[in-house]
Amino acid sequence: MDKSQQIGNQGLGGLAYTGSLDETLIRKRLSANKIGRSIKLFDSIDSTNKKAKKMAAKGAIEGSIIIANEQVEGKGRLGRTWVSKKDTGIWMSIILRPEFAPIHAAKLTVISALAVSQALYGMIGQRMLIKWPNDLVMNGRKICGILTGLSADRGKIHYAIVGIGINVSSRRGDFPPELAESASSILLETDRIVDRNELVAEILNSFEELYLQFTRTGDFTGHRAAYRELSVTLGKRVRVLRPEQEFEGLAIDLTDTCTLLVRQDDGRTREVLAGDVSIRGTGGYI
Ligand code: BTN
Repeated sequence: MDKSQQIGNQGLGGLAYTGSLDETLIRKRLSANKIGRSIKLFDSIDSTNKKAKKMAAKGAIEGSIIIANEQVEGKGRLGRTWVSKKDTGIWMSIILRPEFAPIHAAKLTVISALAVSQALYGMIGQRMLIKWPNDLVMNGRKICGILTGLSADRGKIHYAIVGIGINVSSRRGDFPPELAESASSILLETDRIVDRNELVAEILNSFEELYLQFTRTGDFTGHRAAYRELSVTLGKRVRVLRPEQEFEGLAIDLTDTCTLLVRQDDGRTREVLAGDVSIRGTGGYI
């Protein structure tokens, strides 16, 4: 039994300490060849996305991973803070150099969401569902957020950074009061302690498979089908909270470029590129 499994139980005074990340343990489970070729592991860092951006600008290879036990300046969408307490989650960024056009970049978020959900399902048989565009939820609470950034010009992507934050063993008190209702962790929702090293490796394995499937064939139909199955947004009445205009409608589909199609009550269909979407009638965060 490895060190993280020995200490990875709740018997230790209910601390649910899952140990630190360890590159050797990650590599033991890693079958991906390209994703994870280089792994830079930090005990504490400002933000793995920030570091990844610097490394990518200096020429880091595709598939480089930056991961940390703690982030002190973790960033979420719309400039929000991403709580990244030590040893309680997976705070990881993947550097990619895809050859497809920037219009397909949102596919990287979908690929990441599918990879996280598949990896967890393979480990504990429980699914995270996807709230468009970039959240993974369990029991209506957010467990994982994905932040994809690009450096691109004239129709070419120089590099993309996919930042994945997963709350693995966070406790209620780890989140600020304003997130108390909406944020949660795998531990809180499933009562399971998940080995973070194993989960990282399984995510990278799934990510590579899904990424290569698309980049080698250009075919995203299987990904879209898998997304539709896991979506908590499609088929629901949603409110789109856009800075310029809010509106309501029925979320009817994910397009090939991963935008959301929403049918308004007057029958008009609108394409939502980004922005916050809340699902009506659930009473909660989703
Ligand atoms: C969201 O707002 O839902 C996206 C959250 C993304 C958080 C991850 S954690 C790893 C990477 N580093 C960051 O600073 N942010 C992303």
